[in-house]
Amino acid sequence: MNIKTDFLVIGSGIAGLTYALKVAGSGKVCIVAKSTLDETNTKCAQGGIAAVMRQPDNFEKHVEDTMDCGAGFCDEKIVRMVVREAPERIKELIEWGVEFDRNKNGELDLTKEGGHSEKRVLHHKDNTGEEIQRVLMEKARNHPNIEIIENHFAIDIITQHHLGEKVKRSHKDIECYGAYVLNPEGSKIFTILARTTLLATGGIGNLYHTTTNPPIATGDGIAMVYRAKGTIENMEFVQFHPTSLYNPGERPSFLITEALRGFGAVLRTMDGKEFMENYDKRGSLAPRDITARAIDQEMKTRGDDHVFIDATHLDGDKLKKKFPNIYKKCINLGIDITKDMIPVIPAAHYICGGIKVNENGRTSINRLYAIGENSSTGLHGANRMASNSLMEAVVFAHRSAAETKNLFKSYNFNDKIPQWNIKGTDYPEEMVLITQNYKEVQQIMSNYVGIVRSNLRLKRALERLKIIYRETEELYKKSILTVNLCELRNMINVGYLIIKMAQKLRESRGLHYTLDYPEKNYGSEF
Ligand code: SIN
Repeated sequence: MNIKTDFLVIGSGIAGLTYALKVAGSGKVCIVAKSTLDETNTKCAQGGIAAVMRQPDNFEKHVEDTMDCGAGFCDEKIVRMVVREAPERIKELIEWGVEFDRNKNGELDLTKEGGHSEKRVLHHKDNTGEEIQRVLMEKARNHPNIEIIENHFAIDIITQHHLGEKVKRSHKDIECYGAYVLNPEGSKIFTILARTTLLATGGIGNLYHTTTNPPIATGDGIAMVYRAKGTIENMEFVQFHPTSLYNPGERPSFLITEALRGFGAVLRTMDGKEFMENYDKRGSLAPRDITARAIDQEMKTRGDDHVFIDATHLDGDKLKKKFPNIYKKCINLGIDITKDMIPVIPAAHYICGGIKVNENGRTSINRLYAIGENSSTGLHGANRMASNSLMEAVVFAHRSAAETKNLFKSYNFNDKIPQWNIKGTDYPEEMVLITQNYKEVQQIMSNYVGIVRSNLRLKRALERLKIIYRETEELYKKSILTVNLCELRNMINVGYLIIKMAQKLRESRGLHYTLDYPEKNYGSEF
C-alpha cells in the first residue's frame, strides 16, 4: 500500500492536530499516530496553557519571566512573537469548544505556576490537556479532508538518501518526500508520499527511569531528523518536573501539577521542614530547574526517598474542586490531600531542545516542518517556563499551517521513491535482547545524565551507550521490524545527542547542571 497526501502529519497531540485542522481546508491531510489518537503528552498536561489575557499582566512581564526561566538561552525575538500571538490562538481554542475554567463573574480563572510573576495560566480543572485533546480529536475525526491512521509507526522520513544519494550533514538541499510507516500487524512497511511533512511526535521522557510522559514518548521525530542529517540543538536541556507522585512501580509517574503550588501548597522535607527559601527567594514557586535540583539535593543529602508537597493548610473544599483528579488519585492510595502531605519526586518531563526550526516551524530539511515538543524554536532556552509549551504548540501550528498552505502546491510528489529496502528476515530470537537494552538506556540516562551531571558521568554514559548502539544496529539490520525495536533505536540516537551536547556545554546553565562547572551561587539566576 502506498499513500499520497498533501500534508503528512506525524503525531497527534495539540501541535499535530491543531496544524492538521488548520491546513485541512486547503488539501488532503494524513495523520499518523503511533498509538491511539489520544495517547499523547498533551493529554497528560494538567496545569494549563499560558497567555496574557488581562491586566495587571502584560506582554513585557510574560517575556521577562520566560527569558528569566530560560537562563539566558532564549531567542528574544521568538519569545516576543509567541507571547504576543498566544492570546489570539487561545481565543481560537475557545471558539473550537475548549472549556477553560471561569470565575463566578464569567472571567477566565487564571492561575500561577513556577516562574510566572502574574496569574496567566488558563486551565480546565487539573486536566487541561485532556480537555484540549478531546476537542481537537473530535474536530479532526469529523473533518472530511483528514485521514487518521492510528497504531502505525513512522520509521524514517524519506530523503535523497533513500534514492541512493550520499547525503552529508552539511548538505544544504536535503528534501523530505514523506515517510516510511510500519503497520505492526503483519510487520508491513509502506510509503506515504507527501508534498509537505510535519513532525509533532512529542517528547523523550522514556529515556529516563522516572517520567511523567506516556510510553509513546521515545524521541522518534528527533531521531528521524538526526538520521536524515537535519539540525538538532539544545538537547542537553532535559526538564525534570519537580513534583511527580512518589508511588514506586507506577509508570508513567502521576504528575502533581505546579498549579497546586501556585494555589499555595509548599514543599517540605520528610521531617516537615520547608527548604525552598534556602535555594531561591521565590520559594516553592521558583523555576523548575532550581526546584528540581533543590529537591534532588535535599533527597541526596538526607538520604530520603522523596519530599512532600503540603496543601493541608489550604481550603479543603476549594482544593477538591480545583484539583479533582489529584484528589481522586491520592485518595485511592490512602492520601487525603486536604489532611495529608503528598510524597513527590522529580521526574523527566520535557525536552527543551530538539529539531531546530525557524519562526514558521521550518526545519533545516526542505519540505519538513516540526512543531511542539520535538522542535527547538528558541522559546524555552535552557529551561522552559511552566505552561509555555501548549502555548508554543498552538502558535507554531498556526504559523506552520500558514506557510505550508501557501507552499504545498509548488512541491511535487517524488514518484521515484523506492519501497522500504532494509529486509530483515527474522524476528529477534528473544524479546529480552530489546527489553534489557531499553532498561539499560533508562539506567544510563537516569544515573549519569540526570538532574546533576559531571564529566565522568557523561563519559561513562557515552561509552555504555555506544555498546548498546552497536548491538541494536546489528539487530535492526537483520530483524523484521517491530515498534519496540524502532523505539529503542530512536532512544539510543536521542540519548547520544543529549550526552554529546551536554559534554560540549562547559558550564552549568538552566537544566544542565554539572559538578565540573558549578554555578558560583547555587540556585542563582543567570
Ligand atoms: C504542570 O501542570 O505542572 C505541568 C504543566 C507544564 O509542564 O507546563
